[in-house]
Amino acid sequence: MAAAPAQHFPPRTPGPARLVVLVSGSGTNLQALIDAVADPAYGAGIIAVGADRDGIAGLERAGKAGLPTFVHRVKDFRDRADWDRALTASVAEYQPDLVVTAGFMKILGPEFVAAFAGRIVNTHPALLPSFPGAHGVTDALAYGVRVTGCTVHLVDSGVDTGPIIAQGVVEVTDADHADGGEALHERIKTVERKLLVDVVGRLAREGHRIEDRKVWIPA
Ligand code: GAR
Repeated sequence: MAAAPAQHFPPRTPGPARLVVLVSGSGTNLQALIDAVADPAYGAGIIAVGADRDGIAGLERAGKAGLPTFVHRVKDFRDRADWDRALTASVAEYQPDLVVTAGFMKILGPEFVAAFAGRIVNTHPALLPSFPGAHGVTDALAYGVRVTGCTVHLVDSGVDTGPIIAQGVVEVTDADHADGGEALHERIKTVERKLLVDVVGRLAREGHRIEDRKVWIPA
């Protein structure tokens, strides 16, 4: 069977790439991006932050940075399809070049994934394809792995199955089994924030190409 044609996502010119970031929790990855975009050489700006719940530190961080925010809670909609439609419409209003899901703990719907195909960047706290889903850190720990880490990847219609862009490795210590993975997750997040900032900046400045599940960013 012939391979699918390569998809190209050129850098947006002129001016910084437009980022919409989606969060559900403490938002330390969002904060790392907020800090990075302060440098004009980074090549991107955050134009809005969305969430699936109120009262989270991630939204506070966005507010402090003076960024517009929006919240769509699944329970406020008739069904998941309506929620998907509303989230897609809110993000589309900002005409983003890239959507970054940084600790967004909901599976994106089909309409959203189709609308921003190839331009949704997710960060996951495990070395995919191992340990996808909402419990990447504790699932890896329970399995007994000796190294784990984080994966920055593009989102497709599956759960954490999209093309991988970059990964960072973190060693698991015996002590990690004592606290349910909290310290391990913090060590992963230290690596993850740097990796996410690096990848998003490169995508923004250079564009990317997806070919046969591989993501190529021009050097
Ligand atoms: C991050 O470790 C991210 O990988 C994880 O949530 C954390 C968010 O931290 N996401 C998932 O587990 C998604 N499956 P933050 O709110 O401090 O950025």
